[in-house]
Amino acid sequence: MTVLASSLDVGSAGYAGRRDWMLARLAELDAEHAKAIGGGGPKYVQRHRDRGKLTVRERVELLIDPDSPFLELSALAGYGTGFAVGGSGVTGIGVIEGTECLISASDPTVRGGSTNPWSLRKSMRAMRIAIENRLPFVNLVESGGADLPTQKEIFIPGGQVFRDLTQMSAAGIPTIALVFGNSTAGGAYVPGMSDYVVMIEGRSKVFLAGPPLVKMATGEESDDESLGGAAMHARQSGLADFLAADELDALRIGRSIVARLNWRANGPARAPGRAEPPVHDPGELLGLVPEDLKVPFDPREVIARLVDGSRFDEFKPLYGTSLVTGWAALHGHPIGILANARGILFSAESQKAAQFIQLVNQVGVPLLFLQNTTGYMVGASYEQAGIIKHGAMMINAVSNSRVPHLTIIMGASYGAGNYGMCGRAYSPRFLFSWPSAKSAVMGPAQLAGVLSIVGRQAAAARGEPFDEEADAAMRSMVEQQIEAESHPFVLSGMLYDDGVIDPRDTRSVLGMCLSAIFSAPGAGPGGARDWPDPGPAGAARAGGTARYGIFRM
Ligand code: COA
Repeated sequence: MTVLASSLDVGSAGYAGRRDWMLARLAELDAEHAKAIGGGGPKYVQRHRDRGKLTVRERVELLIDPDSPFLELSALAGYGTGFAVGGSGVTGIGVIEGTECLISASDPTVRGGSTNPWSLRKSMRAMRIAIENRLPFVNLVESGGADLPTQKEIFIPGGQVFRDLTQMSAAGIPTIALVFGNSTAGGAYVPGMSDYVVMIEGRSKVFLAGPPLVKMATGEESDDESLGGAAMHARQSGLADFLAADELDALRIGRSIVARLNWRANGPARAPGRAEPPVHDPGELLGLVPEDLKVPFDPREVIARLVDGSRFDEFKPLYGTSLVTGWAALHGHPIGILANARGILFSAESQKAAQFIQLVNQVGVPLLFLQNTTGYMVGASYEQAGIIKHGAMMINAVSNSRVPHLTIIMGASYGAGNYGMCGRAYSPRFLFSWPSAKSAVMGPAQLAGVLSIVGRQAAAARGEPFDEEADAAMRSMVEQQIEAESHPFVLSGMLYDDGVIDPRDTRSVLGMCLSAIFSAPGAGPGGARDWPDPGPAGAARAGGTARYGIFRM
């Protein structure tokens, strides 16, 4: 296999400028992540500590194996919506007693840990990841239930959380609830539906209705402990399987439950030998993407900084050259890669993509999409040459591909290019964005220009004069709006990706994703048809070979 050469001039002014620009974006990202880490703010965190409680992130940290990495998901949930950044909780993949688990934890310092529309989407996304990748699911519960002022957006779709919990259990994916505090109303069904429930004496409170509501409903006088205390649930109702003395004890019990699952990952044999790092420094990914996404960059420079030994076996390098396709390994996992080169997808690129996706399915290895596309080529000659049909072939191949997909949005992700390159609607197992990513139906200037032309034609059809001044104002306003809506933090806030990551971490993040993917029963060599259905229904309990390596970020 060819070791990719690099022509990136790290001593050039262009490299330095791009690097500075990316570092500035990463500083903005850090500031938003700091908000998520800050939970409900110093006042509520202090109150929580004064009650002798651990913060949500301390709980997660103590639950996972010492010094092991935690792949946090959806950290920007709720960004730009008026709700706290982070979606009143933490979700991610962590290793407990050597087993990769999906951890979903409510943050009681953010409005009592109540679930707002964005936290709901975040929890549901976490559950989807657990189901698709067959990861044991551990819930750290302390929540005031639905965010009452926004209940209309939560109540009906939120029922899926409980359905998914039971379906996971039925499919052999263990569900574990560690209850640290309140788990009221609908929230009471989280421990109710979980396979294993741990409650803390004097702390956990699980009831369908608290004392005030019981008084209102039936007139009965009650107190927290008799209604839903941990001791009552451990001794009388039977809802609690384990009674912990305190938070640390609950986390210890949670770890021992996972240890007893005897969970074994099951994937294809990995490339022999230790995974080699890339020859080229992943740190140089900082200086690759131009601020102006109209300026193309060579995705081989990215691949050279992601894959083992920078080795890449390019497929059809002379044909459809605006799309790079080929074979590589990442942390020892063989993968196929599709990467946009000059942004636009033409007919040749579309046909090449469809063929390559079929070949990857034949071999049965995961596919990595590296997006930087402005979409499919438009214009009379392209239409006449069949761009719709050829683009459809590519989108068809992506839609019906059965191997797991991973997507990184590096730069532009516009129009149907987002679909053909496996955007969110095409259900990649994981999708992460770089701070340089931008997604929309088309670029802001083009979109505003289309509206302007349509308006001009409509005025002409009505026989009215066209108001140039109003048109210029409209175009400027629309451009600003689309620019803001295309921003990666905004899209991540809406859960259209699984997080915005530092380009330097891409290899580690993808390595962790691949490791998680192989928590599911995987394909043997040549066994694409063996990849499981994403839903829990057809999935069987994994068995087989030992687990894969975990990578530090
Ligand atoms: N929806 C919206 N806001 C909520 C909320 C909910 N379900 N639960 C709590 N909050 C808000 C509170 O109004 C408070 O806001 P403020 O600080 O601006 O006044 C903040 O979250 C903290 O709540 P507080 O009661 O001070 O925290 P606590 O730690 O002492 O108690 C709870 C937390 C969850 C036990 C308590 O708030 C509670 O019982 N909430 C209602 C639970 C319920 O009946 N839910 C039904 C859901 S279907």
